[in-house]
Amino acid sequence: MTQAVVQSLKHRLEKYGQDHVIRFLGDCSADERPLFLQQLAALNFDELARAWQQSRTASDEAQDSPATIAQRAQPPGTLVRLPQTDADLQTWKSAREEGKKILDRGEVGVILVAGGQGTRLQFHKPKGMYPIGPVSNATLFQILAEQVLARSRSHGVTIPYYIMTSDATHAETVAFFEENNNFGLPSDAVRFFQQGTMPALDAATGKLLLADKNQLATSPDGHGGMIRALKETGMLADMQRRGLKYIYYHQVDNPMAIVCDPAFLGFHQQRGSELSTKVVAKRSPTEKVGLLVEVDGKTQIIEYSDLPAEQARLTDATGGLKFWAGNTAIHLFNVDFLARLTETPDVLPFHLAHKPVPYIDDGGVHVEPAQPNAIKLERFIFDALPLAKTALVLEADRSREFNPVKNQTGDDSPDTSRAAMTALHSSWLKNAGVSMATGVAVEISPLWAHDEIHAARRAAELREINEPTYLSESES
Ligand code: UD1
Repeated sequence: MTQAVVQSLKHRLEKYGQDHVIRFLGDCSADERPLFLQQLAALNFDELARAWQQSRTASDEAQDSPATIAQRAQPPGTLVRLPQTDADLQTWKSAREEGKKILDRGEVGVILVAGGQGTRLQFHKPKGMYPIGPVSNATLFQILAEQVLARSRSHGVTIPYYIMTSDATHAETVAFFEENNNFGLPSDAVRFFQQGTMPALDAATGKLLLADKNQLATSPDGHGGMIRALKETGMLADMQRRGLKYIYYHQVDNPMAIVCDPAFLGFHQQRGSELSTKVVAKRSPTEKVGLLVEVDGKTQIIEYSDLPAEQARLTDATGGLKFWAGNTAIHLFNVDFLARLTETPDVLPFHLAHKPVPYIDDGGVHVEPAQPNAIKLERFIFDALPLAKTALVLEADRSREFNPVKNQTGDDSPDTSRAAMTALHSSWLKNAGVSMATGVAVEISPLWAHDEIHAARRAAELREINEPTYLSESES
């Protein structure tokens, strides 16, 4: 970096009242200086100033504060519920057939968001490396990647798997896929791309925090950072070059998501949706899932932390929860819609979270705050919902496809997720006439069978199951 560029950076820092960050520049080594200066030069100070302003004005009375939005919210009006009648079953069948045709034409790609830090689970590697297979101990990454492969084989096409990582997860994730030969996926089908980071701001002053003398305190910019990252890393162009029309989006924590579900694809296309999403009935008013609602006629998701408790407890005429539709974070995007979103830099708003963030103080002393001292800035991908011309909401069967791994114990833990997998796979085999000893764990790799129909076809290979069994690709 030339002296002139450094000078102009200093002026920018002064202009925005952030020049304290170069206070320790003299202490940095010749190697460290350029990297730090580049990190500073890449900051968008206007964006940061706007976010800081937003944090000042986000009072509960503001017209668009989460609390007032929640008050105007209504349950989703336009949605497809799970089939109840014969006519519904026909509608679902026709959607499934349509979806299969879309897959046959090779128009579908998949995005996995795997940039989060998984703090609740207290697992200190990328969450996708968590061993979850009830018998095999296969990782979340393996089970999800095998689903993509199984679906590709079933339709005789390549389904590209776009895996979003962050600073915190990138290197280990890429190495893990390499060590495991991409779990059988061809190398040109696996594309990693990294989301961006956002600096943390001191909650009292809006000043940037230093993690070290030569480093800002930063964190991943939220899964909504995907929009910017898709453009900047060339992944959107890759999707367009491959002629993809639809992107199935899912999270790393749910091994039972039905990757590229044909019924979801079919409904999405038949209803002319640009962004579709799957919901499940909430277990309780306090369950930590986002809520699918309509606000001023637009479909949107209100995050659980933004829904006041009294709103969450409201019931409807039938005595059920008024706000029942929980966000599974399984979405389906039109590639054209994604492209449109990338054209506006600030298309998704920031969500502000007060968190404890370690920093070095004016004297260069490292501080580990016990209480929240900083504002972290994140974008959420589901804020794209109200921007879609048409957004479809589809109800999913919770036991079948929403059993995420979030907590160490209790609800949404490895135990509950493993139990759900075993229950599903046992039911596939039992329905196909396989004799199963009571209480014996069984696990089916997606490469052996990825749905009940395939399981029924292969069940003829089995007589009975009396001991813990993993049906893997090589099983026959
Ligand atoms: C999320 C949803 C919630 C939904 C629930 C369903 C948000 C804000 N909330 O909650 O509405 O009901 O899932 O399971 O998303 N991630 C990134 N980059 C980031 C942050 C997260 O890739 O910067 C990824 C994570 O790796 C993970 C997913 O996003 O795959 C969800 O993140 P997490 O913070 O665990 O969300 P939840 O609080 O569980």
